[in-house]
Amino acid sequence: MNPVRVCVVGVGRAGMVHATNFKNNVPRASLAAVVDADLELAEKRAKDLGVDLFFSDLYELLDRAEIDAICITTPTFTHAEIAIAAARAGVHIFCEKPMALTLKETEEMIQAARKAEVILQMGFMRRFDPVFIAAKERLDRGDIGRPMLIRSLTRGPGLPPPWACDIKTSNGMLAEVNSHDFDTIRWLGGSEFVRIYAEANTLKCFDLKEEFPNFYDNAIVTFRLKNGTLGLLDGACPVGYGYDARAEVLGSEGVILIGELQDTAVVSCTKSTGLVASNFPGWRERFREAYIAEARHFVECIIERKEPKVTGEDGKRALEGVLAANKSIQSGVPISLGGS
Ligand SMILES: NC(=O)c1ccc[n+]([C@@H]2O[C@H](COP(=O)([O-])OP(=O)(O)OC[C@H]3O[C@@H](n4cnc5c(N)ncnc54)[C@H](O)[C@@H]3O)[C@@H](O)[C@H]2O)c1
Repeated sequence: MNPVRVCVVGVGRAGMVHATNFKNNVPRASLAAVVDADLELAEKRAKDLGVDLFFSDLYELLDRAEIDAICITTPTFTHAEIAIAAARAGVHIFCEKPMALTLKETEEMIQAARKAEVILQMGFMRRFDPVFIAAKERLDRGDIGRPMLIRSLTRGPGLPPPWACDIKTSNGMLAEVNSHDFDTIRWLGGSEFVRIYAEANTLKCFDLKEEFPNFYDNAIVTFRLKNGTLGLLDGACPVGYGYDARAEVLGSEGVILIGELQDTAVVSCTKSTGLVASNFPGWRERFREAYIAEARHFVECIIERKEPKVTGEDGKRALEGVLAANKSIQSGVPISLGGS
């Protein structure tokens, strides 16, 4: 069978992770083209990746190249237009989180994919991480009884790109960094958000607060899920010390801890240094395997025509949570959601 021809749209930070994986680590796929609004960058990345086709415009790609799927790794405010154009051209879609800027856009993306009968998979790679998967399996097996309280945190090492600092083009840190936690709490909790309360503040990047009045770099969010489970998220960016992604589920019969700060089991200890271990410098390192597994899953779903494990509906629900949290930050009150 011919490999699935994938084009990565947006070859910045996340784009290069996926492009490299589609090129080298997904046996049933081939990296056929790259697109980036910055043509010089597109050309350079194509050369680095050994790909012949590069474009600065998605529509040129859809007109001129034969591809089966795209991977969307452009800024959030561009996701909807790209996904809808791809769906209309019959092209399968892998879309990075956050799915889009508004719920209306997410719904239009879901409908466009459904109408064209193409796959729409969201980039919540934690669901493909061996550690998170093992925890979910134990939870589903009932090892800790009923989940009562879920904590999830993500702290990013450095500042995201400038467009992600502006709440108007990104929905802010809770979307850009903590979308994964919203998804984790829903996924592990096995239920939908019914009430969300959030507090945020700028405690580090005072210059960015001046430039973008809605900017915040620390946040906490509390959740009530429809099945009664409670949730707690904490986020901060930049923290400088590395990439930190951990979760914990307290159940009626025990507790599950997920993830750790340290990246290997190697710890040294001397009189002068004390205990020394190494940590994850960034998301690329922490979730290396998960990015490969989600790309393989996407291609498998295309070939076998099956529903992906993480759908557009999951992207929409996570965004719903982010938007409610931002609303709570602005209004100072808890926000109720439909929850069904
Ligand atoms: N899952 C993860 O762990 C993870 C990690 C980082 C980023 N992301 C997500 O990936 C997406 C991109 O983030 P990033 O940090 O790589 O951004 P980035 O700014 O590094 O890269 C974005 C690229 O898209 C290009 N671009 C902008 N508009 C375009 C358009 N209309 N068409 C084609 N190219 C366009 C830019 O020139 C740039 O090269 C975001 O949705 C982000 O949240 C996910």
